[in-house]
Amino acid sequence: MRYLTLPRTNLRVSTLCLGAGNLGAGVSESDSFALLDQFFDAGGTFLDTAAIYAAWTSDGKGSSERLIGKWLASRPKDAVIGTKGGHPELHSMNVGRLTRREIEADVADSPKNLGVETLDLWYFHRDDPAVPVEELLDIMESLVAAGKIRYYGCSNWKTARMREFQDAAQARSARGFVANQPLWSLAQSDLSGSDPTLVAMNAEMRDFHLNNSLAAIPYSSQANGFFQKIAENRPLSRGITTTYDSEAVGALNRARAAQVENLGAHSGLSVTQMVLGYLLSQPFPVVPIIGPRTVAQLENSLSASEVKLSAEQVAALETN
Ligand SMILES: NC(=O)c1ccc[n+]([C@@H]2O[C@H](COP(=O)([O-])OP(=O)(O)OC[C@H]3O[C@@H](n4cnc5c(N)ncnc54)[C@H](OP(=O)(O)O)[C@@H]3O)[C@@H](O)[C@H]2O)c1
Repeated sequence: MRYLTLPRTNLRVSTLCLGAGNLGAGVSESDSFALLDQFFDAGGTFLDTAAIYAAWTSDGKGSSERLIGKWLASRPKDAVIGTKGGHPELHSMNVGRLTRREIEADVADSPKNLGVETLDLWYFHRDDPAVPVEELLDIMESLVAAGKIRYYGCSNWKTARMREFQDAAQARSARGFVANQPLWSLAQSDLSGSDPTLVAMNAEMRDFHLNNSLAAIPYSSQANGFFQKIAENRPLSRGITTTYDSEAVGALNRARAAQVENLGAHSGLSVTQMVLGYLLSQPFPVVPIIGPRTVAQLENSLSASEVKLSAEQVAALETN
């Protein structure tokens, strides 16, 4: 496992982050604990969760965080935990939840769920462009000053709003966002049939990261297993077909899948090593979030933790 310090923070994290979206939801508590043990035994230290994860189970909102809190209490570890709040209610995704009261309520609940005093890294899970960035900055800075959170970032924000927020932070000598969590993998995504509040990496956002040394912590970093499934000739789920194999992006992504296998065969790297290696070899700090469901998938994803591709290999993967 390699480690890096997120720029402008003292958060030293493993180069792969374990996503908890499935933990306690699709994956049982005991299997979730096995995945957490395996990740930390392999040197992983960085976890990604959110107040909303597993809210759709009978345990309700905060249950992914509570599962992590329970695991941490039984097996103390030196973990860095990123969590997210301010997510709309699931039944009204078009209604923002970024008032001071709503943000403060989420920030008050997450440490209790996780069993920690201060949140290492808190992200806005979504944006609400109707709320001025100055107002959101005020709220974040007051939460940092009160010792509730160490650092904050954003997820699913468009670049123009991130830029506005960072400019406002700079104007008042505040640190601003230290990380951005967009949807990003080697596959192009077609979000036309998805939740309209999701935001994917694009060229403009990439330049923003590069020019500002801002860390990217991408989710769906393996395109939900698209490349592995193509390589193994396994059927694609409806969700994968809609997002990664649609008319708009399917041909490009299938050409990339062929390129992954071709370049991987020449360099002795597996499909997963190529796919995660692509993100781990960008010219700015990138910590992919992995979303394994099983110990075999986790072991396979961990095998990519030290991969570095050359700039030529990265460019070759993008040629299609
Ligand atoms: N900020 C946000 O809005 C947001 C949104 C989504 C997710 N996230 C975060 O990102 C994490 C990961 O997201 P994700 O689940 O969409 O990412 P992902 O890793 O791209 O997709 C997970 C799926 O990929 C397949 N997979 C994973 N590892 C594999 C391997 N080594 N070999 C073969 N197949 C593999 C599995 O598919 P099968 O189940 O078909 O085997 C698994 O269910 C979440 O847990 C959460 O922490 C954040």
